[in-house]
Amino acid sequence: MPIVSPSLLSADFGHLAQDIEMLNHSEADWYHLDVMDGVFVPNISFGFPVMQAMAKHARKPLDVHLMIERPEKFVEQVKALGAHVMNVHYEACPHLHRVVQQIKNAGMLAGVTLNPHTPVSVLEDIIDDLDLVMLMSVNPGFGGQKFIEHCLEKTARLRELIDRRHAKALIEIDGGVNVTTGAQLVKAGADVLVAGSAVFSAKDPAAEIHALKQL
Ligand code: DX5
Ligand code: ZN
Repeated sequence: MPIVSPSLLSADFGHLAQDIEMLNHSEADWYHLDVMDGVFVPNISFGFPVMQAMAKHARKPLDVHLMIERPEKFVEQVKALGAHVMNVHYEACPHLHRVVQQIKNAGMLAGVTLNPHTPVSVLEDIIDDLDLVMLMSVNPGFGGQKFIEHCLEKTARLRELIDRRHAKALIEIDGGVNVTTGAQLVKAGADVLVAGSAVFSAKDPAAEIHALKQL
């Protein structure tokens, strides 16, 4: 049974409290919050004031995905939200090992995210330090994009790396996840599924979350 982390990027921003209340009553495990800076990715989403408002309503762990340059500047602010997971991009961190230690020292799970073109092999020398690896199965910046099929094989390779090293990192997948791609991902070794549009454009979002939990 995967951990399901619905992405609030696809929620109704005019009624965030309502959507979070729906998630509170659903089988969702974590809430995925997508922060964009318009530099690392070609879009801007929301920042700390909005996330603080969301955190006030949320009754489950926050899974924060920073699609920003220099994410290490915000470790304390993410911690202050009460976040459970802080995900930073490999491509945004020249001193990734230091950032990972900062996140862990702040008491959060350290997640490292790879863009679709970044090979799993770049994690060889840091995998033992990670709590979570997130693979992007779309190019980050927008919800509602098509799942990049190559991510299935990549998930299997990451599973193999983690198992071979007896590492503990969870595998999270973000982008284009629905019941169909989710089933394939779980089979390939994914532990955590992020789903934005699949959940929030469903007629019955809670039922969609239930279906993802059954995979
Ligand atoms: C994309 C974000 C995703 C996004 C996923 O840059 O990181 O978390 O919300 O949306 P869907 O599930 O619609 O692809
Ligand atoms: Zn995300």
